[in-house]
Amino acid sequence: MAHHVDAAWNFVFWVSAFFAVLITGLIVLFAVKYRYRPGVREKADPAPHHHLGLEVAWTVPPTLLVVAFFWVGFRGFMDLATPPENAYDIQVTGQKWNWLFTYPGGYVDPDLHVPVDTPIRLILSSQDVIHSFFVPAFRIKRDVVPGRYNKTWFQSPTPGTYQLFCAEYCGTSHSKMLAKVVVHPPGQFERWLADASNFLDKMPPEQAGEKLYQQRGCPQCHSVDGKPGTGPTFKGLFGSTQPIAGAGAVVADENYIHESILNPAAKVVAGFEPVMPSFQGKLSDREIDAIIAYLKTLGAGNAGGQKK
Ligand code: CUA
Repeated sequence: MAHHVDAAWNFVFWVSAFFAVLITGLIVLFAVKYRYRPGVREKADPAPHHHLGLEVAWTVPPTLLVVAFFWVGFRGFMDLATPPENAYDIQVTGQKWNWLFTYPGGYVDPDLHVPVDTPIRLILSSQDVIHSFFVPAFRIKRDVVPGRYNKTWFQSPTPGTYQLFCAEYCGTSHSKMLAKVVVHPPGQFERWLADASNFLDKMPPEQAGEKLYQQRGCPQCHSVDGKPGTGPTFKGLFGSTQPIAGAGAVVADENYIHESILNPAAKVVAGFEPVMPSFQGKLSDREIDAIIAYLKTLGAGNAGGQKK
C-alpha cells in the first residue's frame, strides 16, 4: 500500500509547493512593482473587462489537477478496500489498552505475526471505545469501532519488526497501546504459530498464567509489585480480603478471580472504576486456572504488604 499513499502524498505536496512559491513570488513582485509612488496616479479608466485566455488558464488546469488528485487517491483507496481472495485472516481486537491478535487456529497473541509476501486481511473490532489501528511503515490506518467489523489488509515484502500504534485517543493509557508487527521470513511463521499455540500444554500453569498475564494486556492496569494502577495490584491479592464498593467485602479466592475476569463489573474493589472489559469467550477456564495459579505465586494476604 505504501507506494500508493506515497505517490498521492508526493504529488499533492509538490503541486502545492510549486503554487505556494509561484503565488508568494508574484505577490512580492507585484507589491514591489506596483507600489505607491508620489505623483503617479491610477489610470483614468479602471472599468473591469474580461480576458478570456486568462480565465480559461485559471479554470481548466486547476480542474484537471484536482481530478488528477482524485484519481491518484481513488486508485489507492480501491486497492486498499479490496483484499485479495486468498488473503490470510487475522482477527484484531482493540481494548483499553492493548491489542489482541487472534489467528485462524484460535491462538491469541499481543503482537501481530505474519508471513512475508502474503496478503493479510485484518478484521478489526473493539471491546469498548474507538481505537485506531496504525502501522506507519505500511501506511495503513483503520478505525477500530465497537459493535462493527472494519477490514483492512497489507502484504509486507520485507521481513522485520515494525511498530504498531493506537492512533485514536482512547483514555489514560492510550499512548501505551502499542504492539509489534513481526514479518517472518519464508517458512518461519508456521513454525512460530505452531510453537506459540501450545504453550498451555508445554508450561506449568503458573508460567502459562504469567504469559497470559503479559499477553492479554493485564499489566496495563494490574501491577505485580504493589503499585496501584487502573485496577488493584496483583501482588498479595490472592486470598486477601478486598472491600467492595457499597457491598461489604469479599475474599479474593478462585471463585472471585474467575467471576472478576468474566464479569468484572459484578464486584468492583472499592476505590476503582468499573472499566475492565469482560473476558467472557476470550479466556477459557483452563486459561483462567493458569492465571489463578500465577496470582498465587504473587503472595497471599492483604495487598499493600500486610502479612497475616
Ligand atoms: Cu486505543 Cu488509543
